[in-house]
Amino acid sequence: MSKLSTGEVMHRAWRVGVVVPAFNIPYLPMMEPVVRALRECDAFGLIQVARLEWIKFEAISLKAVSREYQKVKDEGYTRLHLDHCPVIDEDNLWVDVQPIIADAIDQGFESVMIDGSRLSLEENIARTREIVELAHGSGVPVEAELGAVMGHEEGPLPPYEELFRTGKGFTDPDEARRFVKESGADWLSVAIGSVHGAISPATKDKAKIQARLSIEQLDRIREAVGIPLVLHGGTGIEKGCLQDSFRHGIAKINIATAIRQPYERAAKVSIEAGQQAVYEETVALLRDELAIAGTAAALMGER
Ligand code: 13P
Repeated sequence: MSKLSTGEVMHRAWRVGVVVPAFNIPYLPMMEPVVRALRECDAFGLIQVARLEWIKFEAISLKAVSREYQKVKDEGYTRLHLDHCPVIDEDNLWVDVQPIIADAIDQGFESVMIDGSRLSLEENIARTREIVELAHGSGVPVEAELGAVMGHEEGPLPPYEELFRTGKGFTDPDEARRFVKESGADWLSVAIGSVHGAISPATKDKAKIQARLSIEQLDRIREAVGIPLVLHGGTGIEKGCLQDSFRHGIAKINIATAIRQPYERAAKVSIEAGQQAVYEETVALLRDELAIAGTAAALMGER
């Protein structure tokens, strides 16, 4: 049986309503226990790294991540994805994303994300379109973002309840329709109430607020775009909202803080203790919060 591409697996996930978790790896030793947990829970997932994780944490480089992945991967359960490659980053600096994404594809990343969410709609479309052309040339699917999933920036968040009530920064369905049609993106990261875990040295150890999701907004976006949707800020979302979102178009959920914080705490004792903490937390997420243990065959079964 030939290997299913990440694009094919994501489309199956979207059709059958089984979410694909994508686990961030800010420290390389976190990768092996995540792969092991996926295998042991018989669940499919992505291993991913964002640019800020090799710049501000210890993922080192795309090459180092790819090497580690080649050592520990299990293609029955995992694929490698490039998370946030921002055109304007969390510190408001412009980034030349094209060479980074080209390098990721050369290093064997099987899907990539361009994050143009801090740009105007027109510019986001144009920059995403360039990356789609580059990546599709190598058969690699592209995730893009429209709307503001906050939390990576320094400084305090606006009060969460106000943010949720006003829907400030939520993805607009009409803009999303135009964005997807004109950019050619394969999957869309949407803002519907989740926030990213903080990453600045002063706040990265703090517990996240519990977020909710607007399923009505999600429905409107899903009807407008007709492609798999992605939920960022996957740590600490109310469980009922989370499960609803998987039935309403969310095909991929990004999870970083939930496994990073236990790793950082336990790794003060030893790397092995850190790895054990990651393993236990990943198993708990797969079994309880995401409830996808035993679903790998539904996504990876025969063509
Ligand atoms: P959390 O830190 O909330 O898990 O979000 C992760 C994420 O969205 C990475 O892209």
